[in-house]
Amino acid sequence: VGSRFVEISKRKNFLHYPKQVEFDITDPGDIRNIISSYNFSAVVNFAAYTDVNKAEDERGDKNGTCWQVNVEGVRNLVNAVKPYIERIHFIQISTDMVFSGSKDDPGPYKEDQPIGNELSKITWYGYTKGRAEKVVGGVLGDRASIVRIIYPVRAKFLHKLDYIGKALKLFDEGSLYPLFSDQKISITFIDELCDFLDKIIIANVRSISRRFKRYDNTP
Ligand SMILES: NC(=O)c1ccc[n+]([C@@H]2O[C@H](COP(=O)([O-])OP(=O)(O)OC[C@H]3O[C@@H](n4cnc5c(N)ncnc54)[C@H](OP(=O)(O)O)[C@@H]3O)[C@@H](O)[C@H]2O)c1
Repeated sequence: VGSRFVEISKRKNFLHYPKQVEFDITDPGDIRNIISSYNFSAVVNFAAYTDVNKAEDERGDKNGTCWQVNVEGVRNLVNAVKPYIERIHFIQISTDMVFSGSKDDPGPYKEDQPIGNELSKITWYGYTKGRAEKVVGGVLGDRASIVRIIYPVRAKFLHKLDYIGKALKLFDEGSLYPLFSDQKISITFIDELCDFLDKIIIANVRSISRRFKRYDNTP
């Protein structure tokens, strides 16, 4: 998602986008140095541990990479941003998977829907992303923004297959079927998300958004 933003953002000539090799969000020193070295007007956190299945192997483990990146990494970022909060708009990219969902209340949800607190009803990845939202709110309050997205897709990206890319590949290989036919989902077109991020950065509008999620299919 972040790589597309640096390609098409209206402000791409003003962006600083460090590679992980020079900027590890689990290292508070790295982060403080970068945040204090530039005159940032916004910091968008696209970084996360995103392998939902692999994250399950670390369920409950706060020393695991998933918790360290998704929660402690975000804590490092917001702590570094806090002294500059009047100038820097911090935007945390989050996910619909912060909601546990239920048959009685399957969504779609409003921005103020309580996120899943019961670990047994939510993926470890979703739980860590939810804890990250709490950390952002706890340290920066409503001066920060949280943007929840779902199934982000883009037209062509060879490094990683997205939700549609995977289905098209299986179709080409003749192995797409059998497939469910009773599910409704909404996806995020990453180009639209980028436009939205540009708008809230330029207008300095700070809040929680679920703009890209009309239906929720989180289990
Ligand atoms: N994909 C989805 O279905 C989905 C759905 C909803 C929300 N989201 C959220 O959208 C955001 C972007 O997701 P994505 O699909 O673009 O994920 P992605 O392709 O896995 O990208 C995540 C990025 O985070 C970087 N990263 C991981 N650990 C880091 C660390 N310790 N320090 C610095 N950078 C680190 C990775 O760098 P390396 O490549 O160098 O490891 C990678 O570039 C995430 O916050 C994710 O939770 C994704």
